[in-house]
Amino acid sequence: MSDQPYDILLRQGRLLCAVDRVEQVDVAIHNGKIVAVAPSIEGTAVLELDVANQLVSPPFVESHIHLDSAMTAGNPRWNQSGTLFEGIEIWREYKQSLSLDNVKQRAIATLKQQAAQGVLFVRSHADVSGSSLTALQALLEVREEVKDWMTLQVVAFPQDGIYGGAKNESLIEEAMKMGTDVVGGIPHYELTREDGVRSVHRIFELAEQYDRLIDIHCDEIDDDQSRFLEVVAACAIRQEMGSRVTASHTTAFGSYNNAYAFKLMGFLQRTQINFIANPLINITLQGRTDTYPKRRGVTRVKELWQQGMNVSLGHDCVQDPWYSLGTGNMLDVASMAVHVCQMTGMSEVEACYNMVTWHGAKTLNVEDQYGVEVGKPANLIVLDADDRYDAIRRRATVQYVISNGKLLAQTQPPQIQWKG
Ligand code: FE2
Repeated sequence: MSDQPYDILLRQGRLLCAVDRVEQVDVAIHNGKIVAVAPSIEGTAVLELDVANQLVSPPFVESHIHLDSAMTAGNPRWNQSGTLFEGIEIWREYKQSLSLDNVKQRAIATLKQQAAQGVLFVRSHADVSGSSLTALQALLEVREEVKDWMTLQVVAFPQDGIYGGAKNESLIEEAMKMGTDVVGGIPHYELTREDGVRSVHRIFELAEQYDRLIDIHCDEIDDDQSRFLEVVAACAIRQEMGSRVTASHTTAFGSYNNAYAFKLMGFLQRTQINFIANPLINITLQGRTDTYPKRRGVTRVKELWQQGMNVSLGHDCVQDPWYSLGTGNMLDVASMAVHVCQMTGMSEVEACYNMVTWHGAKTLNVEDQYGVEVGKPANLIVLDADDRYDAIRRRATVQYVISNGKLLAQTQPPQIQWKG
């Protein structure tokens, strides 16, 4: 290696570690891999970047987004009530005319927007309910087209329920055969409670049969009687699927009475399942039928984290019928979690950063490829920030994005010029 230049050398960055504070190091990259991390590395590189006083971090992980609906806000109409259910109705209208090219173009545009802001791992849901698998086919093609610079997982997600339409059960099985990474569901939106329970059992069957991960939209409603999380927990315990299972949203958990929540928490700890909260969207969607006091509509993020559960955070939607705002910036997501989940203690703020990095990698089951460590794929970001707290507080600019050993994107931090 000594007589051959590295591809990229980062000089004197402040490397962020999962548990410890930062340490000042050089990072050498060659042939797509991290080949050295040390206080000082001798040698030259094709590209040498002075990143002194900047934060070197593993990339952001977007563990929950819907790329098939991204960038459609206002089409065919605006969500006036702001509810989940009006959003589903609008999407049902929109998807009648979905084309492969249209989904691919919007998905790739969104992924580029995310990658430019430091996201290099994404789990996207693809709606597989209704009349066709167009959205899924499009996202599977996108997964292939972006694989050199972005790791994309695709979830077969039956937006209208596995039993909410005549063809939906066969469509989700067809989606498994087409090669989705993850099987999803929406038990609280099945037509009856019994259908909801049945759908969770069917999801676990499919996951076992096709050897896939599970990620269920679970109890995304303010109804304190929506209790499908306990069904997910029971299946995960009995089938010993633990860390391969994710419960997304679980907003009803924020409405459960404490006696039930306390019992449930004990069961959940036995499961080792992952949780994904989506605070940007759920603070706007939930509580819409409340007057005052008005609920926050977010799951018990702080308590799950305090109990040692793996919690990650997702953006969920970017400019679609459910959430018309957003740019895909994971620091926006972490910042909203700090506020909505009242995680303002320093260790809690830092945990929110970890929820859009390391915890997301655990949710996606990609930990073996993730982290700024020798031998791992060279995926990392350089932030114009001192530490996690500073990054979240200022929504710091991601100055360099390095993906699979190549500089993928570069952004200059804004500079203010006083004229007074
Ligand atoms: Fe979602």
